[in-house]
Amino acid sequence: MAQEDVFKKIVSHCKEYGFVFPSSEIYDGLAAVYDYGQNGVELKNNIKEYWWKSMVLLHSNIVGIDASIFMHPTVWKASGHVDAFNDPLIDNRDSKKRYRADVLIEDQIAKYDEKIQKEVAKASKKFGEAFDEVKFRETNPRVLEHQQKRDALHARYTQAMQGPDLEGLKQIILDEGIADPISGTKNWTDVRQFNLMFSTEVGSTADGASRIYLRPETAQGIFVNYLNVQKTGRMKLPFGIAQIGKAFRNEIVARQFVFRMREFEQMEMQFFCKPGTEMEWFEYWKQHRMAWHKALGMGNDNYRFHDHEKLAHYANAATDIEFNMPFGFKEVEGIHSRTNYDLSQHEKFSGRQIKYFDPDTNESYTPFDVETSIGVDRMFLSVMCHSYTEEDLGNGSSRVVLRLPEALAPVKCAVLPLVNKDGLPEKAQEIADQLKFHFNTHIEVKDSIGKRYRRQDAIGTPFCVTVDGDTLKDNRVTLRSRDTMEQERVDVSSLRSIIEDRVSITSLLKKLQ
Ligand code: GAP
Repeated sequence: MAQEDVFKKIVSHCKEYGFVFPSSEIYDGLAAVYDYGQNGVELKNNIKEYWWKSMVLLHSNIVGIDASIFMHPTVWKASGHVDAFNDPLIDNRDSKKRYRADVLIEDQIAKYDEKIQKEVAKASKKFGEAFDEVKFRETNPRVLEHQQKRDALHARYTQAMQGPDLEGLKQIILDEGIADPISGTKNWTDVRQFNLMFSTEVGSTADGASRIYLRPETAQGIFVNYLNVQKTGRMKLPFGIAQIGKAFRNEIVARQFVFRMREFEQMEMQFFCKPGTEMEWFEYWKQHRMAWHKALGMGNDNYRFHDHEKLAHYANAATDIEFNMPFGFKEVEGIHSRTNYDLSQHEKFSGRQIKYFDPDTNESYTPFDVETSIGVDRMFLSVMCHSYTEEDLGNGSSRVVLRLPEALAPVKCAVLPLVNKDGLPEKAQEIADQLKFHFNTHIEVKDSIGKRYRRQDAIGTPFCVTVDGDTLKDNRVTLRSRDTMEQERVDVSSLRSIIEDRVSITSLLKKLQ
């Protein structure tokens, strides 16, 4: 099945099984805004718990905060967002649609990659086992021609983005003959910069009102609280401040479901350290964050680092952790060495001293900062994409199963009375009432047992417990595993420990030690 079709199936599965709904759907939705349903919110909360505990519980020198979404408008002047948080946009005069110029060009680069991939796939089919892909890529004239055009375009694009050179970007679009996907014409306006921050007003009268912004990143809430936390927590360098919260960006090209949204959630940690030690910490956090991802068991080959060639003016190192989504390797998390840029800017704009007095050296300095920043929604999407599986069970039957990392599953255990009579529902309720204090346990009585197993598979429940007539006599139940579908007979008293060992966030956290 084409990856595009797989992705469409994942999106509709998310809706059908209560993971993600389009926002305000009864009014036809709102572009690039989504709501999490009864299962989605549980999965999302588990991701957040895993992240929060890995930061705040496992590191004695990291504490958390929860800053407000609205902040003083000067924060965004100091951080550079008012002047420089822009996307280069271009309009098509015929369709009246607006596009990101950089995305149009990146799509064109991807088209060359697809052409190369098609040639490789065709040759691989023709030559079978004897096919030498490396040699083919190095010698096939059509592949070489596409590769040469692709590389030239990539080099021109990287150069134009550096200014950014807006005229240069438009010229690339014209030279490549890029047409509007809707009107099919090449009738483009000039490229203009467009600020991504949403703004609103505080104050009751138009005169007295002042323009404020919805934060486009949670990080600034940490920087402006650096002094508060350092002083009240008596924190010594190096130390970190972690935060989970909503961020807002007026994304023009909003696509790929929850991958790029206008309202999304970030989990960010700023690690403050002594100037000169930041590269050591950058390396530490790169490795530590990659280990966090890999502990979920979603396949080590599905992750890679993408080091930034072009650094933001405030950074001296930056990398992305990318995950292999159905639409290619994409950024899920960024790790940035942000130097002392943010704290120095806030010092300059607020007029307050934002320094650290080092008791070891008797000097005061502005700490350097290494940031780890991960999108909850992108993490959610990577987990869903990896877990969605269609399985052929032989003898003409099949199932859709979400092979979620067990600790992240919304429901950990479903208790199912074999029939809805003869005291079995009551016994099932009694078992669920014991387990519910330890992990999310559901009870389901309707439909055949087979249908109920399929429904639990579809939401990724790792364990089903079936209560039958014998249970009333011997206090034993059938425990079914989601992944293997194997069933074993166990005593009710052992259920908690068997299940908890596998599904707790603690079991994941232990892998990080
Ligand atoms: N404080 C640094 C910062 O905000 P970023 O690379 O712009 O850096 C960090 O964002 C992470 O936030 C990204 O890796 C991504 O997971 C998530 N993110 C950014 N924009 C997003 C959007 N429009 N929708 C969903 N997630 C987004």
